[in-house]
Amino acid sequence: MATEAADPAKRARELREQIEYHNWRYYVLDDPEIGDAQFDALMDELRELESAHPELARPDSPTRRVGGEPVSALPKVTHREPMLSLANVRSADELRAWVQRMRAHLAREGIEDPRFEYVVEPKVDGLAISLTYEHGRFVQGATRGDGVTGEDVTHNLRTIRSIPMRIADAPALVEVRGEVYMSLSDFTALNERRAAAGESTFMNPRNAAAGTIRQLDPQLAAQRPLSFWAYQLSHAEGVAIDSHWQALAWLRERRFPVNPEIALIDDDEAVIERCEGWERERGRLDFEIDGAVVKVSDLELQRRLGAAGRDPRWAVAWKFAPTTAATKLLEIRWNVGRSGDLHPYALLEPVAVGGVRVSRATLHNEEDLLRKDIRAGEEVIVIRAGDVIPQVISPAPHVVERKRRPKPPLPPTRCPYCGTPTVKEEGAVFTRCPNRDCPERRHQLLKHFVSGGAMDIEGLGEKQLALLQERSLVRSPSDIYRLRAEDLEPLEGFGALSAAKLIAAIERSKRQPFARVLNALGIPEVGEKTARDLARRFGSIDALLSADPQQIAEVPGIGEKVASGIRRALDDEQLRALIEELRALGLRLREARAGRGGPLAGKTLVLTGTLPQLTREQAQELIEGAGGRVTSAVSAKTDLVVAGAAPGSKLQKARRLGIEVIDEEGLRRLIGE
Ligand code: IVH
Repeated sequence: MATEAADPAKRARELREQIEYHNWRYYVLDDPEIGDAQFDALMDELRELESAHPELARPDSPTRRVGGEPVSALPKVTHREPMLSLANVRSADELRAWVQRMRAHLAREGIEDPRFEYVVEPKVDGLAISLTYEHGRFVQGATRGDGVTGEDVTHNLRTIRSIPMRIADAPALVEVRGEVYMSLSDFTALNERRAAAGESTFMNPRNAAAGTIRQLDPQLAAQRPLSFWAYQLSHAEGVAIDSHWQALAWLRERRFPVNPEIALIDDDEAVIERCEGWERERGRLDFEIDGAVVKVSDLELQRRLGAAGRDPRWAVAWKFAPTTAATKLLEIRWNVGRSGDLHPYALLEPVAVGGVRVSRATLHNEEDLLRKDIRAGEEVIVIRAGDVIPQVISPAPHVVERKRRPKPPLPPTRCPYCGTPTVKEEGAVFTRCPNRDCPERRHQLLKHFVSGGAMDIEGLGEKQLALLQERSLVRSPSDIYRLRAEDLEPLEGFGALSAAKLIAAIERSKRQPFARVLNALGIPEVGEKTARDLARRFGSIDALLSADPQQIAEVPGIGEKVASGIRRALDDEQLRALIEELRALGLRLREARAGRGGPLAGKTLVLTGTLPQLTREQAQELIEGAGGRVTSAVSAKTDLVVAGAAPGSKLQKARRLGIEVIDEEGLRRLIGE
C-alpha cells in the first residue's frame, strides 16, 4: 500500500481532513466527489498509519466510525442547560392563539407590536440528542433523558457519518442539539432484512433509532443506518448571531446536516399554510414527521419570551393526526410468493390511520406474527408511517390481560391457492407451498417478470396477467413472447389497438439488457441491484450458470450463504428450461459490453439532474450498452456530462472545467436511438 509518510502525524491529519470532507459530501450533501474505491484507499492508508503508530490513534478519527470498543454502561450526563420540550397546537386557531399569547407577554415586557419572523421546521420523529464540541472536537453526546439528565451515548453517535467529528472555526465550547432518526427507506430495508432472517422487526423508525442509540456495543449501531438533523445551536460563546435562522446557517457552514425543508416565514397565515402543507405531503419525505415546529427566529425576542415550566414560549409543535389506530383484526390470511414462501397479512375492520383508510396490513413472517402475540378476533394496534405499508404492531393493551383469548395463529397446513400440503424445512423462516404449478406462485412470478425493474412491459399489469392465466394463454414467462394480437383481441378490455400496442411493448422488451432479464427470472435474493452486479461480474448467463459459489460470493454485497442459495437456484431444472426458452425467443442473455465498439466506447459520462424520459438507471444502462462508463463525480477525466432538470453542482463544475454538456436528446442522438 502507501509508502511510509515522512511525517506520519501530519499525514494522519491530512487523511482525516480529507475523509471527513468526503463523508460530508456523501452523507450530508448527497453529492460525492470521489468513488468508493478512492474513498476506501484513503481509509486504508489511515488505518495502516494508525496501527503502525498507535500514538496517533484518537477517538474522533474516522476509522472509529465503524464502531470502537463496547462500553459497560451508559453513564448519566447532566445537561448544561435543560433540554426543553414543546407545547402542542393542533389547528390554525390554536396557532393564532399562541401568537396572541406571545404578543400579550411581550406587551407586558414593554415591547409593543413586535414583528415576528418564524423558522418552520419539520418535527422529525426520532430522539433528541445533544452534542458537545471542545476546541472544535466532538467530545460527548447525550440523550435527552428527562430533560435535566440524559445518558452518554458518545460511542454510538461517532458511528453516524453525518455528525461531524471536528468543526472548523469554532469557539472553545459548542453545544448542538438535534434529532437522531432512521430514514424510512433505511427502516424498511432493515425490517425486511430482519424479517427474512427470522428476527423480530421494529415497530417504527423511532423505536429502531431509540433501540440502536442505547446499545452498549457501537459495532451494532454502526450496522444500523442512523441519521441526524441539527436543529439548535444551544451554546456557542462569542459567536455573533442574533437569530435562530443565522444559527442554522452557522451550523450548515460547519457541515452539520440541517434539514433543507426548513423555511423562514414572516407571516402567521403563511406559517399555517406551511404546516398544513407538510401534513398533506408527509408521504413525500423519506423520514417520518409527526408535526412541524414553529420557532420565533429573533434570539432577543426568544430571551424576552422565556419559558413557562418545561416549554419555551417562543416555540410550539404543530402536531399531525396520529399514525396509529386501534381496530379489530378480522382474519389472518396468507399470500404465496413467487418461490412458494407463505407471508401472513391481516384483514382489518377499516380504520383511518394518518388520514388514510386501512383494511389490510402486512404481518412479515410467522415468527414475527407469534412474537407479536396478536389473535384474529381481537383488537390490535395498526401503524402507518409515511409511505410505508401499514403494519399491525401489537394487540391492544386491554386484550392481553384477558383470561380467555383466541388461539394463536398458525400457518395453513395446505396452500390456500392450490391445496397442496405445505412444508417447512429445518431452520427455515417460511412455511412454503412446494407446488411449482401453484397458480398463485406462477402469478407472482409473472407479475415480477413484467414489472418495472425487470422486463418492464407496459400495458401488462396484474389484471391482464390474471386474465391471460385464466384463459390458459400464459402459464410461464416465456408464453408472454408467444402471444399474438389475435389471441388478445377477443379478450375483455382489449381492442385491436390495445392488442397491437401490447404486442409491440412485449417485442420491445426483448431489447432489455441482460441485468434486467436476470432480475426478471425471480431467483431468490437476486433483486435489481444484485442482478446488475452479477451481470457486470459474469457478463453472460452461461458464465453465471457455470460459476461456483466462491466466485459468486466475490461479488460485493453477496455473502457465502446467499451465494450458495443462488447456486442452488441456478441448478433448478425448471429455471434452466425457462432460460433456454427465453434464449430461443431472442432475449438478451449477455452484456452488450463496454470497451469494444459502441458509439461511447472508452468515454466516461456523468449524470446530473432529472432527465425528461429516462430514470437514472435507464440512462446508465443506455450508456453502458453503448460502451460508455458512468461515474458519480465530475473530474478532468470526464468526457461528457448529461444534464436534466434541476442539475446539481456537477453542472457548474463541468462548465468550469470546460467539459461538454448534453441533454437527454443529445445522448439519444449520440447513441443512435
Ligand atoms: S426544538 C426548545 N426542533 O420534538 C426547543 N424539536 O417536543 C426544543 N423535535 O424532544 C426542541 N424536530 O426530540 C425542536 N426541528 C425540531 C424538532 C424537535 C423534532 C423533537 C425533539 C424534542 C421534541 C419536543
